[in-house]
Amino acid sequence: MNRKDTFLVFGKPHFNQDEIDEIIDTIKSGWWGTGPKTEKFEWLFKEYIGSKYSLAVNSATSGLFLALKVLGISEGDEVITTPLTFCSTANVILHLGAKPVFADIESDSWNIDPIQIEKKITKKTKAILPVHLHGRPCKMDQIRAIAKKHKLYVVEDAAHATEAWFKKKKIGNISDITVFSFYVTKNIATGEGGMVTTNNRKWIEKMRVLSLHGLSRDAYKRYSVKEYVNYECMYPGYKFNMTDLTASLGIHQLSRVKKNFKIRGQLWDLYNKEFEDCPLLSVPKNEDNDTVHARHIYAILLKLELIKVSRDKCISLLIREKIGSGVHFTPVHLHHYYKKTFGYRKGDYPNAEFIGERVISLPFGANLKVKDIKRVAETVKKLLHQNSIQ
Ligand SMILES: Cc1ncc(COP(=O)(O)O)c(C=O)c1O
Repeated sequence: MNRKDTFLVFGKPHFNQDEIDEIIDTIKSGWWGTGPKTEKFEWLFKEYIGSKYSLAVNSATSGLFLALKVLGISEGDEVITTPLTFCSTANVILHLGAKPVFADIESDSWNIDPIQIEKKITKKTKAILPVHLHGRPCKMDQIRAIAKKHKLYVVEDAAHATEAWFKKKKIGNISDITVFSFYVTKNIATGEGGMVTTNNRKWIEKMRVLSLHGLSRDAYKRYSVKEYVNYECMYPGYKFNMTDLTASLGIHQLSRVKKNFKIRGQLWDLYNKEFEDCPLLSVPKNEDNDTVHARHIYAILLKLELIKVSRDKCISLLIREKIGSGVHFTPVHLHHYYKKTFGYRKGDYPNAEFIGERVISLPFGANLKVKDIKRVAETVKKLLHQNSIQ
């Protein structure tokens, strides 16, 4: 480590003057809540995805909840999802009184395995909730075929997958409902935020009402008319709406999405090249034909059999070298609540656990330079060699 090296934060957002100017404009406009800029961001996003409808929300978690809610998922239902995801994917199923049922992942793609999904279907199953882990699209043709055969809904967790494609179809325009995240580390970052896309008008209208207390009119529509129109609470709704301050960031983040994707693609290839000569780790598998990986997270797998330290210790060693990294993810079934409530144990989902023990997400994003990637790769290789068993 060079003593002058600054700390490389994992998932630092990329922005420029456009975001700053837009935020200032919004502040000065006096309209800070949900209004014209949220509407514009929604419109731009749906145009980008190619879906008929979109709804901006304050997080992907809120969006996933609304999606399952509008599809009628409730007490006694089961939703099949992957254990290798962020806990919120499974938590929202519980919030609705339903049960998350995990289906193990494929060992090469790290995404939910369609064969395992089919094994988990019962009379109570109502939906499948695949997650495009790190930005790699799931096998959506097989998942949709299973859903069709068993009359199930499909809601995609595309928190990592803005920019992903599956067989010439953009993620966001394939299943019943898709949900994106704009959390600070994501490809489009607004601090907190999310977007729901669908081609079903009834669902989007109901989700819109539910996202703002269940009111028949949102505040912008109430105050921007020439004559006062009363509003009513149609359902006991939620407070999940996006604000114009957030949308101000999103509009400009979206405008650079293609440019940043290209930059991340180059950095991704560079990591792969840098690690070619390292036998102590493996890199993400190449894309399948006809799919586009959104390149949200670049994650390596440590070959724990060949090194003396654990993955967590490696992360601590990287911190000492001023390099931030992440774990995406510890399988959900091994989290305290899930073990305590459902009795899950180590060994229940071996493929997810294998990845969960070995995975490290390295700093990655359009604001990183070639020298940053080289520094991370050299440091990782040095630390692993220092701790190698031979
Ligand atoms: C796979 C996955 N799903 C859902 C979420 C929740 O997103 P949000 O933080 O926007 O609620 C995340 C968050 O990082 C995630 O990684």
